[in-house]
Amino acid sequence: MAMPSDATPSGENQPAPLSVSSKRARLAGIGVVILCVVAGFLYLGGWFNPHELTPARFVNGFEEVFGIHSGFRRNHAKGMCVTGYFDSNGQGARLSKAVVFQTGRVPVIGRFSLPGGNPFVSDSPASVRGMGLDFTAGNGEEWRTAMVDIPVFAVSTAQGFYDQLLASKPDPATGKPDPEKLKAFFAAHPESARALTIIKAKPFSTGFDNSTFNGLNAFRFIDADDVSTPVRWSMVPADAFKPEDTSQSANPDKNYLFDDFIARIHSGPVQWRLILTVGQPGDPTDDATLPWPEDREHVDAGTLTLDQVEAEAPGNCRDINFDPLVLPVGIAPSDDPLLSARSAVYSQSFTRRAGEKKEPSAITPSDVQK
Ligand code: HEM
Repeated sequence: MAMPSDATPSGENQPAPLSVSSKRARLAGIGVVILCVVAGFLYLGGWFNPHELTPARFVNGFEEVFGIHSGFRRNHAKGMCVTGYFDSNGQGARLSKAVVFQTGRVPVIGRFSLPGGNPFVSDSPASVRGMGLDFTAGNGEEWRTAMVDIPVFAVSTAQGFYDQLLASKPDPATGKPDPEKLKAFFAAHPESARALTIIKAKPFSTGFDNSTFNGLNAFRFIDADDVSTPVRWSMVPADAFKPEDTSQSANPDKNYLFDDFIARIHSGPVQWRLILTVGQPGDPTDDATLPWPEDREHVDAGTLTLDQVEAEAPGNCRDINFDPLVLPVGIAPSDDPLLSARSAVYSQSFTRRAGEKKEPSAITPSDVQK
């Protein structure tokens, strides 16, 4: 009986031994692969071009301006965790096949934050506020977004953000940014000067609970027929807008924005409507400094309810990277160059902080108690 070839006794059908020249060729091949891998790492680390803005250099920039605070985010370092759920009303499903937009409830983990790399910075009325959200749909898909309470972003490119970061570095002599450097930044970035005018025209609200948070970057929603639509999104609060009060800056509590939110959530759940703004052909999708016309269609996709608050701790929002490119099937990135830059820099910040010793956050477990 013939033996199947994979059951041949040892010695039969073995490959012929390699000649010396084939061995050399094989070793040379391995050497080339190793060189390519090393060159890849050097390229990503920016070693070939010392002026290239790599993710590592970007995060070095945050560290240069704010110092290194072990275990904390390099930007939006001061924060507090929240949890709740999103009730989709099904109206977003017309635009996106993402499971999160089908009618039903999905759990949400969130984080409120203030920008900058100082985790103990004092709350102040004019400080931009951040809301990070991580939706987990029934099929396990996640949708992560990090939004802020300004109507447009101040820069349109990663280089613009980096230039702004360094231009805003406080001068050791005055403790404030050097006005000449800021002037030079705005002269080199007229798009930022225009965006600042739009940002300043919109009053801040009194707290996190009555802030509108905007995703700012455009995305593409993909429906069940694979039709793609440009979309921007916002979380619009149920709590009534009240303009910030100048007396807030005199508040001796340096965590008053967080403490006010803790008091607010202890009085009952806090809610926002998820509003999708539908872009039209010609609306800019690659420039977060430019607003879309006011008359664009708005789709109310459902309600976000936050009902629990926690101090940052192992395993909660502290350990999530709210990377804007963690998207479910049905939401895709647009051509906005900020998106890939954000994803790469958040990852670099996350990698550094994940490997560091953790210190207690400004908002402690006792602060969040009733
Ligand atoms: C090139 C542009 C940007 C850069 C380099 C940048 C950088 C960063 C970094 C390093 C973090 C900390 C990441 C971590 O360690 O988990 C962060 C967090 C954050 N960013 Fe950005 N960012 C950019 C644009 C934006 C934009 C356009 C928005 C709003 C639409 C935004 C909103 C936020 C928020 C809310 C957080 C805090 C999220 C959390 O709680 O973890 N950022 N950013």
